[in-house]
Amino acid sequence: MRFSTKVIRVGQDPQPPHYAVIPPPVQSATFYWPDAENPPDFDYTRAGNPTRHTLEQVYAAIENAKYGLAQATGMAAITTACSLLRPGDHLLAPSDLYGGTYRLFERYLKPMGIEVSYADATNPDNLASAVRPSTRMIWLETPTNPTLKIVDLERCAAIAREAGALSVMDNTFATPYLQNPLDLGCDIVMHSTTKYINGHSDVVGGALMWNDDALTEPLTLYAKSVGNTPSPFDCWLTLRGLKTLPVRMDRHLQNAQAVAEFLATHPKVERVYYPGLPSHPGHEIAKKQMRGFGGMVSFTVKGDGSAALEVASRLQVFLLAESLGGVESLVCYPPKMSHAAMSEEERLARGIPPNLLRLSVGIEDVEDLIEDLEQALK
Ligand SMILES: Cc1ncc(COP(=O)(O)O)c(C=O)c1O
Repeated sequence: MRFSTKVIRVGQDPQPPHYAVIPPPVQSATFYWPDAENPPDFDYTRAGNPTRHTLEQVYAAIENAKYGLAQATGMAAITTACSLLRPGDHLLAPSDLYGGTYRLFERYLKPMGIEVSYADATNPDNLASAVRPSTRMIWLETPTNPTLKIVDLERCAAIAREAGALSVMDNTFATPYLQNPLDLGCDIVMHSTTKYINGHSDVVGGALMWNDDALTEPLTLYAKSVGNTPSPFDCWLTLRGLKTLPVRMDRHLQNAQAVAEFLATHPKVERVYYPGLPSHPGHEIAKKQMRGFGGMVSFTVKGDGSAALEVASRLQVFLLAESLGGVESLVCYPPKMSHAAMSEEERLARGIPPNLLRLSVGIEDVEDLIEDLEQALK
């Protein structure tokens, strides 16, 4: 079965008694035991639920994985992956990463005795030289949030393997439609399914996918124990959103390419960050490991942070809001939104300038998007 068929059909064959073409959500917290000696397949929804199980089958299928785990949010998925770490272990992370991930590492993992350090993973040699004897996990993100840096996944996964560490890759920006990190040697893939996977900005969710049987018990037992699993209805909405992921992504990336090309020639724009532009330093690696460059475009406005904020507030089709990956176009000002958890100094050290805007390019008519940017940049 190919990708666009998988998102529609995996785990969703019509079942008795009604043979509904769309399996209804099983919105029950608990399940009857017909045989008091043996638990039923599902006994309590925190531990497992038929709707969640269907979604997990689709998650595994679209990342070419053996296993999938649905989570309540992307951050829940990151927390579950990090539950594999113990005090004294070292977590090596890329210097450019989602601000919420950085906050979790700094505010919660470090005080628990887990060592965390950062390296610019766009040059895998930096990552290799930052490995310590205690390195147990290498975190990866590509394209990165918010400056869309590209990391060579095959090389970074090989560095982790040589170090005896697990590689965990946040594939939220690319989606499984455009990039499959397990096929490139990573151990665990993680998604904020709040974004493109659900695609309609009406659910928060997360996912983990992996192949190694030995990871299944620790990851699933942690999720069941801390209870960071999603509701059946959120799983059902996500199954619905997923069915159109391929067609949405095709339109997102067409629109994003046109927006990036428009911005690249605009006199008020200082720099455009989009891996689909041949001038992007990661363009060749992106071409090698992705099947398209995605729907996110960042750019700096000539001037300071307030010039960027003025442009953001003049936009009308692009809504000023957190998040990304929905059908509607959004603009984000990272210093106050996605990367507010970092100090200005930390942002600057990671190449996140104060005059940066991040666009989540939606699937509207591209002419409306470009006209909106044109009037806001006047
Ligand atoms: C790249 C990336 N990873 C993880 C997350 C966290 O996901 P959630 O907001 O679903 O918890 C986000 C959210 O913006 C993100 O952009």
